[in-house]
Amino acid sequence: MSDHKVSIRVNGRERADEVEARLLLVHYLRQVCGLTGTHVGCDTSNCGACTVLLDGQTVKSCTVLTVAVDGSDVVTVEGVSADGELSAVQQGFQACHGLQCGFCTPGMVMSALGLLLENPDPDDAAIRAGIEGNLCRCTGYQTIVESVRWAAAHGGAGLGQGASR
Ligand code: FES
Ligand code: FES
Repeated sequence: MSDHKVSIRVNGRERADEVEARLLLVHYLRQVCGLTGTHVGCDTSNCGACTVLLDGQTVKSCTVLTVAVDGSDVVTVEGVSADGELSAVQQGFQACHGLQCGFCTPGMVMSALGLLLENPDPDDAAIRAGIEGNLCRCTGYQTIVESVRWAAAHGGAGLGQGASR
């Protein structure tokens, strides 16, 4: 099977790789880029654990072929902090205990980030709509909503402002 050349900017770094036409973006990120923070929870586009930003929009990376994003910009959960400084969304999850087992958390963080990029001041209904494509098997939805609300008040889609809850 012939490989296809792709150039993709991943977390701000330009990459050039050769991939099979069938390779899903989530598997490219995990297996080729070594970015295992993007999880695979279902492989059937239900759970949202694989959510990343593609050119600034959230996508479930298990639904996207790598060859289709040639020339695009991808941000994974590994790319939302800077120089050891957590993003506001990550700080929100920490401050408000927005995780239990943590399996859904990378996808939740990316969906929350996508929401805050579009709507810096969401109410609870907007937050719930923003994460409706993400399932938490631990059912910790209330604290996840609180985490996103906290993030909106302490840095939004940017780095966290380090305030305590
Ligand atoms: S692994 Fe992509 S939605 Fe579940
Ligand atoms: S914290 Fe366990 S799946 Fe969400």
